[in-house]
Amino acid sequence: MQMNSLRELYVEELKDLYSAETQILKALPRMIRAASNKDLQRAFTVHERQTQQHVKRLERIFRMLDESTRGKKCKGMEGLLEEGQELIKERPEPEVLDAGLIAAAQRVEHYEIAGYGTVRTYARQLGEEEQANLLQETLNEEGETDKLLSSLAESSINIEAEQGDDEGMESGGNGSGTGRSGGVRRRATTKRTKRATAARR
Ligand SMILES: [Fe+2]
Repeated sequence: MQMNSLRELYVEELKDLYSAETQILKALPRMIRAASNKDLQRAFTVHERQTQQHVKRLERIFRMLDESTRGKKCKGMEGLLEEGQELIKERPEPEVLDAGLIAAAQRVEHYEIAGYGTVRTYARQLGEEEQANLLQETLNEEGETDKLLSSLAESSINIEAEQGDDEGMESGGNGSGTGRSGGVRRRATTKRTKRATAARR
């Protein structure tokens, strides 16, 4: 399809996000099941509810534009979610898996933040203020989720993952810099870290 206007590009980008959100909605239950840390499970569960709202907001915008939600598959999101799935299949130690799940989820969030920032700006440029506001609401929630994941990683999950392997994985500080690239190893983990996690519950 040849696109000749910002409005057409706007609709295409919205379709891409709609496809991304519906894919995320399918993937989140798997991520919730895979997570061991209760705070991480809770963060994913809250985000699942938010994502349902993100889908609804997009549907509302499509109705305002009199456009269909269909017609595009977000391949970027497909790839990101596939990587998360691969990590789960590698069956790393639970603490390491949690750190890796955060890394995967933050990649997803950053992708969405870029997408929503773009369509919000297009909507403003096109004089669609109500749509811009709806998109901004979602953008804010994606940003909050990203920050929450960073703080979970920094306050406990990366530390537990590091204790799970005394040779250590690269500790990137925030969630987006940690995980698989740091060298996920299958190895007996100290029960100590699990008890430490449980004690905080
Ligand atoms: Fe979302």
